[in-house]
Amino acid sequence: MKKIAVLTSGGDAPGMNACIRAVVRRALGRNVSVLGVRKGYEGLIDDIFVEMGWDDVSNIIQRGGTVLHTARSARFMEPEGRRKAADNLCSRSVEGLVVIGGDGSFRGAHVFHREYLIPLVGIPATIDNDIWGTDFTIGYDTAVNTALEAIDKIRDTAAAHDRIFVVEVMGRSAGFIALEVGIGVGAEAVLIPETRTDLEKICEVVHERMEQGRTSSILVVAEGDEEGNAFEIASKMKRMSGLESRVTVLGHVQRGGSPTTRDRVLASKLGWAAVDALLDDGWPCMVGEENYGVVHHPLPDSWTRKKELDSLLVQLAENL
Ligand code: F6P
Repeated sequence: MKKIAVLTSGGDAPGMNACIRAVVRRALGRNVSVLGVRKGYEGLIDDIFVEMGWDDVSNIIQRGGTVLHTARSARFMEPEGRRKAADNLCSRSVEGLVVIGGDGSFRGAHVFHREYLIPLVGIPATIDNDIWGTDFTIGYDTAVNTALEAIDKIRDTAAAHDRIFVVEVMGRSAGFIALEVGIGVGAEAVLIPETRTDLEKICEVVHERMEQGRTSSILVVAEGDEEGNAFEIASKMKRMSGLESRVTVLGHVQRGGSPTTRDRVLASKLGWAAVDALLDDGWPCMVGEENYGVVHHPLPDSWTRKKELDSLLVQLAENL
């Protein structure tokens, strides 16, 4: 291979820039040139490529977001969009593609590979951490720490006013962020889609705590919880047991910010490994990290197999 391309796709995640940097520099180190694709699959379809040299990725390792920009592309889900994308790669003599993104991006990549046999490697990057085949996804650690810092601040005002707060964190249909952050902030309850939420029981616990002298409480809820979003949960609690609460939705603040060391290192490791997998005939695959080692898995495993929560963490959240 003499030329590869790299893109970021789906929701951005802190550490994507560190990953782009590693892909570019590992490829250049192996005498392969790199094109960056702007706006994910959209740029692939619209032929928006940029040359990426060693210095083009200087000073980005510490930045959140993605210098290549990203998108959720509906056009790439259509055969016509993928045909244009394949034509553009071919006319630019691109021989391999690195896709940095989440499971939606990998599904697109898999179909694309099957149709056009383009050598392709996926790198898991999403704050949700909901991808099977890697202990952590790029961006998750930063998002958890951002949420933790924000909730510590909420704890101050909750304590000052003797209030209950229901705080919603991201994680579409996964409770990874809520679980870790809930343990980290010492939340009174953690509501996640993977376990059944018993609101009556939660209200009872809050009341009991109040009787014992506790004047404020923090409940952390994942946006995908089956009882609804934070506003719905707050109003159900009011209806069920008269508990008044304030609601904070942390939202996209969790997606921004400078990546933690853990995310920068993970991103660098996986960017490097993805290029090696492309150049050493390890494609198609997703590279991930398990027990600190780099692993390679078939792309479909990343969404057909379900990543389980750590059951010890679930126990901690329930009991501490
Ligand atoms: O990519 C992950 C994520 O941040 C989810 O946690 C969230 O549900 C979703 O993306 C929000 O997506 P968007 O920014 O497109 O509204």
